Amino acid sequence: MKIIGTGRAHPAKVVTNAMLEEFLDTSNKWIVERTGISERKLITNERLEELAVKASLLAIEDAGLKPKDIDYIICSNVVNEYITPSLSCIVQGAIGAKCACVDVNVACAGFVYALDMADDRIKCGKAKNILVLAAEEPTRMVDWSDRATCVLFGDGAGAVVVTEGEGYMGSRLSAVSMTDSLHYMRCLEPTPYITKEELSAPMYMNGRQVFKTAVMLSSRDIKALLADEGLAPEDIKYYILHQANMRIIEAVANHMELDMSYFPHNVEYCGNTSSASVALLLDELHRAGKLQRGDKLILSAFGAGFTTGTCLIEWTK
Ligand code: ACO
Repeated sequence: MKIIGTGRAHPAKVVTNAMLEEFLDTSNKWIVERTGISERKLITNERLEELAVKASLLAIEDAGLKPKDIDYIICSNVVNEYITPSLSCIVQGAIGAKCACVDVNVACAGFVYALDMADDRIKCGKAKNILVLAAEEPTRMVDWSDRATCVLFGDGAGAVVVTEGEGYMGSRLSAVSMTDSLHYMRCLEPTPYITKEELSAPMYMNGRQVFKTAVMLSSRDIKALLADEGLAPEDIKYYILHQANMRIIEAVANHMELDMSYFPHNVEYCGNTSSASVALLLDELHRAGKLQRGDKLILSAFGAGFTTGTCLIEWTK
């Protein structure tokens, strides 16, 4: 498999740290020092599916294809307004594709998992041109009076088109069930027979535990994948990490004994956009002309579960 097109879409509303200071007991200084985030883009009147469609059409155009050429869609998503049908199915209709489609929920690691699924599907000959997208609105999962979580997140959608080729060189996926550390639960509709207690509660996150686990598992997976492929850390042009927190990115760079020039970032103006973050950053780098044919890239993300996904890509566009 190889990537032949990328696209992204952000909501229009920019929310700065100063705007959060107006209603939260927080400060620009605290947020910048602890997270690296200065502003984030939030959904207001847009629907997530509109952002997903825009990102998808841009990726298909960049690939030099038409929506009818797409023969499978995989969408990474944690929440959106629809429980059913799937977001991939909504996008399929809106872009005018006719293919089968599926959503995956692997929290913030979902885009890397989706790429891995696409690689499998292409390898077994069941699809040729796959749209892989990640569309997320994590700002709708948090309590906006909880300063420990709401300042971290932003919304957005990123997409790639992949086809047969030699650009996907290897991957490492993992899952460790640690639901207590990070979760979001919502009640389903009542029935006359429900007797159990059900919780509807905004996102709970043990920030310190997530921080430590993320650094440990991401560094472990990246090193293991490099060893699998016989590569040195310096052989990689960019490490495109999940944009959760600048300090996590810096800590992984430190573990890899690499300087920050290997670790591009946009968390400072996008916030943590869950599984969309890696796809958004990839498109940003591509459209800024920062990726050259033959560059080796590591994509690595971690999320609730705890899940991790890391893959090695050669840029072939
Ligand atoms: N403004 C001001 N003070 C705050 C804020 C805020 N926004 N948030 C928390 N504080 C306070 C706390 O109340 C605490 O005060 P106390 O010492 O009086 O109790 C103090 O700051 C320190 O809090 P900590 O939680 O220990 O701060 P920490 O340095 O760990 O930073 C943070 C918190 C930013 C959440 C960090 O732990 C982190 O980034 N963790 C990883 C989060 C992450 O990556 N999540 C996403 C992964 S999965 C996914 O993407 C869904």
